[in-house]
Amino acid sequence: MNYTANHDRYNNMKYNRCGNSGLLLPAISLGLWHNFGGIDVYENGRKMVLRAFDLGITHFDLANNYGPPYGSAEETFGRILKSDLQSYRDELIITSKAGYDMWPGPYGEWGSRKYLIASCDQSLKRMGLEYVDIFYSHRPDPNTPLEETMMALDQIVRSGKALYAGISSYDPEQSQKAIDILKELGTPCLVHQPSYSMFNRWVEDGLLDVLEQNGVGSAVFSPLFQGLLTNKYLKGIPEGSRASKAASYLQSTDITPEKIDKVKRLNEIAESRGQKMAQMALSWVLRDKRVTSVIIGASKVAQIEDAVGILDTMEFSPEELQTIEGILQN
Ligand SMILES: NC(=O)c1ccc[n+]([C@@H]2O[C@H](COP(=O)([O-])OP(=O)(O)OC[C@H]3O[C@@H](n4cnc5c(N)ncnc54)[C@H](OP(=O)(O)O)[C@@H]3O)[C@@H](O)[C@H]2O)c1
Repeated sequence: MNYTANHDRYNNMKYNRCGNSGLLLPAISLGLWHNFGGIDVYENGRKMVLRAFDLGITHFDLANNYGPPYGSAEETFGRILKSDLQSYRDELIITSKAGYDMWPGPYGEWGSRKYLIASCDQSLKRMGLEYVDIFYSHRPDPNTPLEETMMALDQIVRSGKALYAGISSYDPEQSQKAIDILKELGTPCLVHQPSYSMFNRWVEDGLLDVLEQNGVGSAVFSPLFQGLLTNKYLKGIPEGSRASKAASYLQSTDITPEKIDKVKRLNEIAESRGQKMAQMALSWVLRDKRVTSVIIGASKVAQIEDAVGILDTMEFSPEELQTIEGILQN
């Protein structure tokens, strides 16, 4: 079936300015880390991407090694672009990254100029694109001079292969250094991509301050702690869920009784707000105005609809925030 985008797609989504840049990102973005690989059902991935776009999600987050197998999420996305979204290219923010292991040998991971530039070229081929909107250094490399990694990002932008540069999972000190180098090179750091959720709050210890002080945005990943901050695991580990899968980064041992007890109590607050647990977890991350966008993952269309459903319930009362804090701290 030929796809035509929903005419009302921009009516409901909230778009936030990414730091001090000219770029607006949707409050909710979709990541293709899981469920879009060669092992997954193509039509399900296609439906999720198109439904997301119809709901105003303009930002799709990829990386070289998303799959499995590595590279296949970019191939899936390239196929969807070609069949359905080609005429909407200028309405899309498409990202990729390099930093984790991608191909064998010494040039297939970390932060060398060799790896980043070759990997960006591969990503463009897999997606059938002339450029990505944002290219990230996926993680800091302790053994490569930061100048080299940042110069590679600068070169990727200057050669027209990416419009903006970003960094992911850099700590506050590394981030400040990277931001300074990129500024000196004349390619400002647009955005940082850290993990952040009710169960993982490391960004509150300095990183968000550094980003705010430097006018850099943040697109935060795993805002649902990979699904734990939903009502999915309240009665055990359901078949087909991420924690039930062998090749998953969410292990059944991560689903501890303590965490489940917290989710149960948080879920009561969510219900009193007229939200699902997943929705409250996303609203909570976005309560901090330094967060530009939450990058969610999804295995079905309904989860994307849940996420977009938060847009008119974003505010928290001081009492709600205090009760949530009490649960998270204990
Ligand atoms: N920069 C980095 O190093 C890095 C690292 C990790 C991720 N990321 C990016 O961030 C994106 C999101 O990461 P993530 O997938 O871990 O995010 P997440 O939003 O924390 O978890 C997504 C998972 O939660 C479950 N879920 C989502 N909505 C739900 C709902 N309404 N009700 C019940 N369950 C729900 C689904 O799991 P089920 O499969 O169980 O249904 C879904 O796959 C990735 O795709 C990637 O783009 C970046």
